[in-house]
Amino acid sequence: MSEPEVFLNGEWMPHSRARVSVDDRGFVFADAIYDVLKAYRGFPFALERHLDRLERSAAAVRLRLPVGRAELKRLVLELLERNGLGRKADRDAMIYIHITRGVAPRNHLFPAGVEPTFYLYARELPPWPEWMFSEGVKVITLPDRRWELCHIKTTGLLYNVLARQQAYEAGAWEAVLVRDGKVTEGSHTNLFAVVDGVLRTHPTGPHILPGITRSVTLEVAAALGIPVEERALDLDELRRAEEVFLTGTTIEVLPVREVDGRPVGQGRPGVVTRRLRQAFLESVAFRKAHPSPAGC
Ligand SMILES: Cc1ncc(COP(=O)(O)O)c(C=O)c1O
Repeated sequence: MSEPEVFLNGEWMPHSRARVSVDDRGFVFADAIYDVLKAYRGFPFALERHLDRLERSAAAVRLRLPVGRAELKRLVLELLERNGLGRKADRDAMIYIHITRGVAPRNHLFPAGVEPTFYLYARELPPWPEWMFSEGVKVITLPDRRWELCHIKTTGLLYNVLARQQAYEAGAWEAVLVRDGKVTEGSHTNLFAVVDGVLRTHPTGPHILPGITRSVTLEVAAALGIPVEERALDLDELRRAEEVFLTGTTIEVLPVREVDGRPVGQGRPGVVTRRLRQAFLESVAFRKAHPSPAGC
């Protein structure tokens, strides 16, 4: 396979030629934002919502986006085409958008007159092993020791990285974070649970990332008439939940079969989770069949 082509600061180039300075503020301070999308056989899913979130992240950290929205959409589609992941592709892809405050001698203050660093890449997203959806995954809970601005999609993800690694070393797929006794989200996913017949998830705000998959899942649940409450779960509610699942761009709706070594419900994906995963995938297929000019 030929080398992937990436976009860096206005130029297309092979991945191996892409270079950023050691003075880049993304490298020095994690002074950067990003977003990740999934393209279903060439159709970026929920592109407008991802770009809305990117714009909100940029505004929250006072970072200027290097291109306007129409140009960004065009670049995303060109990125897919250049990498054989566009409209004719028979493969799915993940698209990564990364913007830093640019290159300047180290100083906490914003640099003046500096262009942001702007990086885009796409790569094939092979299907996940089927057992993850038919059986569900294990999670562990950990204290949420992140900062108070978790709604901003910044590359400052060190605690998320530590938590995910700890989960992996404990034989689990995800770390579910708990702040002041309330379940917030996973290290790189949002969390839902069915408790006493009601689908619950943490409300948006500074303690979670407002996941795009989370928002679509809430809409799908409402359309199916599933009772939903955006209210944080206590840890003991998580432990006695009838069903638990995670949402995220690349895994969509992922059942959880075990929390901290204890089975969830019957220890296999429950009916609400299975219905929602199915309905989520149907909503992707519907949007693909009725796309807007830029995506589905
Ligand atoms: C901390 C966190 N929560 C939730 C999510 C899920 O968000 P989305 O559905 O937009 O992928 C992510 C995705 O990377 C994340 O990093």
